[in-house]
Amino acid sequence: MLIDSTTIVLDGDPVLRRKADLVQLPLSEEDKNTLTDMIEYVRNSHDEEFCKEHNVRASVGIAAPQIAVSKQMLAISIMDEDGDIEFALVNPKIISNSTQKAYLENGESCLSVNPDREGYVPRYAKITVRAYNMLTDRFEDIRLKGYPAIVMQHEMDHLKGKLYYDHINPADPWQEIEGALVI
Ligand code: NI
Repeated sequence: MLIDSTTIVLDGDPVLRRKADLVQLPLSEEDKNTLTDMIEYVRNSHDEEFCKEHNVRASVGIAAPQIAVSKQMLAISIMDEDGDIEFALVNPKIISNSTQKAYLENGESCLSVNPDREGYVPRYAKITVRAYNMLTDRFEDIRLKGYPAIVMQHEMDHLKGKLYYDHINPADPWQEIEGALVI
């Protein structure tokens, strides 16, 4: 299945507010195919031509509920000067986190939330996530900080039925968060 703008579920659909189901391992063929489509979608979305052709927005991650599959699977592909980071995770869990918070200076955005909601989104500055990674076919403890840690928390929120703007201070969206790292 090719994921494009018609496949992405938008805010307002109840599937985005449901807690996603745990996935049985080893992965079924169907789940494997879904997660493969997801990681390919994120990879492809780095390409401007692909985005134009298929009417999709550039992205760094997607979670299964965003394609109406209420299962605990997410895909991340970040390509920047620090190198490429890619995960195709099943049943991810945060097993430790820093007390320090971090947030993106321009706020977050999401394929399922259009237009963007403005404001700072507080996240943990560092996390360790335990998950099965389909790309390595292993269970891994993944330590993340900075931007990738924020992306991971954003995608994991989708598996809990949360959206990034739930974390924005409604009284003062751009209020500084004390002691937090600005990314
Ligand atoms: Ni999102």
